[in-house]
Amino acid sequence: MTQIRKIGIVISGASGSILALSALRILADLPNTESHLIVTEGGQRTLELELEPEEVSEIPYLSEKVNEEQDLAASIASGSNALDAMIILPCSIRTLSAIAYGQTDRLSIRAADVMLKERRPLVLAVRESPLHSGHLQSMQQVTQMGGIIAPPVPAYYLKPQTIEEIALQNAARVLNLAGCNVQQQLVRWER
Ligand SMILES: Cc1cc2nc3c(=O)[nH]c(=O)nc-3n(C[C@H](O)[C@H](O)[C@H](O)COP(=O)(O)O)c2cc1C
Repeated sequence: MTQIRKIGIVISGASGSILALSALRILADLPNTESHLIVTEGGQRTLELELEPEEVSEIPYLSEKVNEEQDLAASIASGSNALDAMIILPCSIRTLSAIAYGQTDRLSIRAADVMLKERRPLVLAVRESPLHSGHLQSMQQVTQMGGIIAPPVPAYYLKPQTIEEIALQNAARVLNLAGCNVQQQLVRWER
């Protein structure tokens, strides 16, 4: 029987909703892969501010399972049914800090905590600048617990021409870090 990989995707309230849309579109086309979505309250607000209404409406249809942020009884809240990998894209400082300090009163944070305790890949595309020492300490804390901090910075050397191109590059890199087979979407530097 073919093994289906379950990839969690959390859209939190940092800027960069287009990154999440791009990642979900890639995941929807990947064979033997399911995406399990959580949109935080802040994430919903930034989606509506940054994307076109039809793009916001497309998001839930790209996922096999949409979870409610308040539903701490969802299957992915349990280590017995952990996801294969989870990405937080974009990741706000609030969500980063809650993961760093185990504030598991919301599903996104509980599911991320489960990934860390079960030693499974957790990638946080933290988007904020500049950073103060509290932000850096939270990043260090999550890194020491096994998470991967991967801020969505453009690969300028690839000379992207559009925001969509930058988003695709970032989304593919984050998915690659989570162990997804995105060789087709990954643009590599070659000389
Ligand atoms: C348009 C917009 C852009 C934002 N961009 C960022 C950002 O880039 N990074 C960040 O940490 N917070 C950003 N915020 C603030 C977060 O949305 C806010 O802290 C929120 O409480 C995060 O909650 P969440 O982590 O539960 O999604 C932004 C808010 C808005 C409305």
